[in-house]
Amino acid sequence: MKDALLRTSGWKHFLLLLMVSMLFHLPSYGYTNMDNAGMSGIVRIAPPAEGGKSSTKQVKKAAAKDRSSYDQINPEFRNIGPGFGGMNAVPFWISVVVFLLAMGGIIKGKNKVVKNISKLAALIAFGVISYITYWEARALGRQQGYAPVQPIWFSHKVHVTQNKIDCEYCHVDVRESRHAGIPSLNVCMNCHSTVNKGKNSGTQEIAKIYDYLGYNPKTRQYDKPGKPIQWIKVHNLPDHVYFNHAQHVQAGNVDCEECHGPVEKMDRVVEYKELSMKFCLDCHRERNIITDNQYYALYKFHLNPGEKPKVKDIGGQDCSSCHY
Ligand code: HEC
Ligand code: HEC
Ligand code: HEC
Ligand code: HEC
Ligand code: HEC
Repeated sequence: MKDALLRTSGWKHFLLLLMVSMLFHLPSYGYTNMDNAGMSGIVRIAPPAEGGKSSTKQVKKAAAKDRSSYDQINPEFRNIGPGFGGMNAVPFWISVVVFLLAMGGIIKGKNKVVKNISKLAALIAFGVISYITYWEARALGRQQGYAPVQPIWFSHKVHVTQNKIDCEYCHVDVRESRHAGIPSLNVCMNCHSTVNKGKNSGTQEIAKIYDYLGYNPKTRQYDKPGKPIQWIKVHNLPDHVYFNHAQHVQAGNVDCEECHGPVEKMDRVVEYKELSMKFCLDCHRERNIITDNQYYALYKFHLNPGEKPKVKDIGGQDCSSCHY
């Protein structure tokens, strides 16, 4: 083996070794556009299955069977993510094949033309492979494009855009607390005790609300046993990061859309932005703070006339603001 290594000319071997090392990264290439119940990235969050047992396969099968006609990611939110808009498995594998064939052409090619064309093809394929590897490596541990199937088909498009319900009607804690909060099913019942049918899903999905709550639409009583619903968390920062909604929405007056994208157009929630450290810092370096509230009453006193402090000036760039 050592002799063989020494004998082969340097650069060919270098490329081959690089190829082999890339094969070890392959598991991460399955990451493309996770639109199903389990996620195929690094973080796996087991989705709840009907009847207690949790199995990705089970949930996927059930979801495919009973709601495939309406529960889809809207076309404009597909393929969000790293690489070629998240669609990187296909170009990756094509490039691998092209690269291997081209290597064959370089080594075994009969004449100069074949060799030169092979070199060019190898170079291009290598470029594509490197490009995808770079974006996939960046995305490791992040979940941009993640869009799990939820236990009830809850559409923000139907509720926010078509029925004009305000975000904060449901996400009530977003101004006061670290977490925006997910509404309890009792909030749904403010309307769905009367609205029992939807244009897309008929009675099927709304009936699930009744099921979870133990509500009997015939008697209009809660006379059946209920069970807790387990929504699947979409946005999930690592545990070593502190993030607070109230600080951004209330004090900073930042729109939901700047971090979550156009949720009001989504039938199924998709993690729209790459929630990386760069994403947070880019804004903190540029954004002015709003000093008109009580909190800054004294701080304002220390500013020169016309001075407009940015988030970084109040500690928005200090490691310990976000990591402690
Ligand atoms: C009628 C209630 C309702 C309204 C109105 C509503 N939401 Fe939601 N939202 C929910 C429920 C229920 C979930 C959990 C299920 C899901 O993820 O689809 C959710 C999930 C989310 C999530 C994903 C949470 C996670 O798991 O990471 C975001 C982000 C979100 N909503 C933002 C918004 C924004 C922005 C608006 C306004 C444009 C809005 N919501 C309006 C009920 C609502
Ligand atoms: C500055 C960025 C930012 C803004 C603005 C923002 N969010 Fe979030 N949101 C996040 C992040 C980051 C998470 C993930 C939090 C975590 O994992 O701890 C999140 C999580 C959520 C969740 C999941 C439950 C939770 O609280 O963890 C909901 C629901 C949500 N956001 C709704 C909203 C709504 C509604 C608004 C606007 C009123 C909003 N967000 C504004 C960044 C933002
Ligand atoms: C403020 C009133 C209101 C609240 C609160 C509300 N909904 Fe709705 N929901 C509606 C209306 C209106 C429709 C549309 C019915 C139609 O298609 O004509 C609807 C439709 C639906 C549908 C069927 C969509 C379709 O087109 O098939 C589902 C499922 C649903 N809601 C679930 C929920 C869940 C889960 C919650 C609680 C998180 C909730 N809703 C909270 C008013 C509300
Ligand atoms: C679109 C702009 C924007 C984005 C994106 C954003 N922030 Fe902020 N952030 C702000 C603003 C504005 C403030 C100042 C709020 C105030 O006035 O107290 C702030 C303040 C903070 C603070 C308090 C800083 C201090 O020392 O007072 C923390 C912590 C923080 N953000 C964490 C995060 C994290 C973590 C993320 C990424 C997930 C993030 N932010 C993304 C706009 C943003
Ligand atoms: C505004 C908030 C914020 C500040 C300030 C901040 N970080 Fe981060 N940091 C984050 C977020 C969000 C992540 C998670 C990114 C992800 O999931 O990929 C992170 C991740 C990390 C990681 C893990 C590697 C990674 O990319 O996931 C390290 C290490 C780190 N930060 C170090 C630092 C250091 C050192 C500083 C100070 C110079 C700092 N951070 C300041 C928000 C912040």
